[in-house]
Amino acid sequence: MRRFLDLADFERDEVSALLELARRLETSPEPRALAGKILGLVFFNPSLRTLASFQSGMARLGGNSFVITPGQGTWQLETRLGAVMNGAAAEHVREGIPVLASYCDALGIRAFAECKDLANDLAETNFKAMAELVDKPLINLESAINHPCQALADWKTMDDLGVPRNGRFVLSWAYHPRALPLAVPAAAVHMAAMRGMDVVVLRPEGFALPPDIMSKARSAAARSGGSVRETADRGDALAGANIIYAKEWGSTSVYGDAQGDAKLRGELTGWCVRNDWFTRTAPDCRLMHCLPVRRNTAVADEVLDSPRSIVQREAYNRLVVQMAVLYQMLKGV
Ligand code: CP
Repeated sequence: MRRFLDLADFERDEVSALLELARRLETSPEPRALAGKILGLVFFNPSLRTLASFQSGMARLGGNSFVITPGQGTWQLETRLGAVMNGAAAEHVREGIPVLASYCDALGIRAFAECKDLANDLAETNFKAMAELVDKPLINLESAINHPCQALADWKTMDDLGVPRNGRFVLSWAYHPRALPLAVPAAAVHMAAMRGMDVVVLRPEGFALPPDIMSKARSAAARSGGSVRETADRGDALAGANIIYAKEWGSTSVYGDAQGDAKLRGELTGWCVRNDWFTRTAPDCRLMHCLPVRRNTAVADEVLDSPRSIVQREAYNRLVVQMAVLYQMLKGV
């Protein structure tokens, strides 16, 4: 494997093989498998899980890693093509990224959406421009519209807990004080569709996922035997649900308009997942969230602290599935 950028780049049996490898490494550690290998990690945006789990995973396989957070102890990196660099950035990614790639055996890059221009973010313009500069194996640590490591961990989490392949997966919008990117909702809806699930996107008006994201998920569902639809009706969405995957994202009807978004979301503070969301029709429904989560804003304490919540297992599985990705990329290379 040379690139892990999007779960959609893989067939279902390839994903199954990765998950099988993850389970094998979980039960039968190989602490020398990647001895002598180096992973470079570039974070243009903050992280807790992705940063720590990749460093930990590389160490558990006998390899090493380095972390670059541009502008924090290193030169600030310019990403805009054609920029006149008379501001804070001392170096352009066109020099910086190939230099970093030359120091390691695989590189991971995190670069969130700018959340200004939807078409630009959907096209992954920034991430693709950097990816073209990397001649080594490359991992997407979360780009504008994708988070494949999270999606793979979420798939394994549902497998671990025996969630049926054709169960109901409700991706629900949740309140946050400001607009967040579409990467996790886009990756989650596609992953669940690829897994063969009955996927329902539950969101208020103004927050529908863009057609490109929905059609990609529907294509995956068509191949897996799953289905994808959306609704603003919570009762309809949650009836018989196996999973509610809570996630905060920005308005797509006024994308890039902070004031317009704030006006819309100001009315939606009730979209905080509480016990009373789990009606008699979904008594065994589990709560997923990629984390970080704002308690009592997106999800209430009473849900996060209940057996219903599987967020810790999702976060733990980031370590395990990423070890499988690193192993496939670097073992024997
Ligand atoms: N879920 C996730 O990617 O977490 P971090 O942003 O902390 O890496």
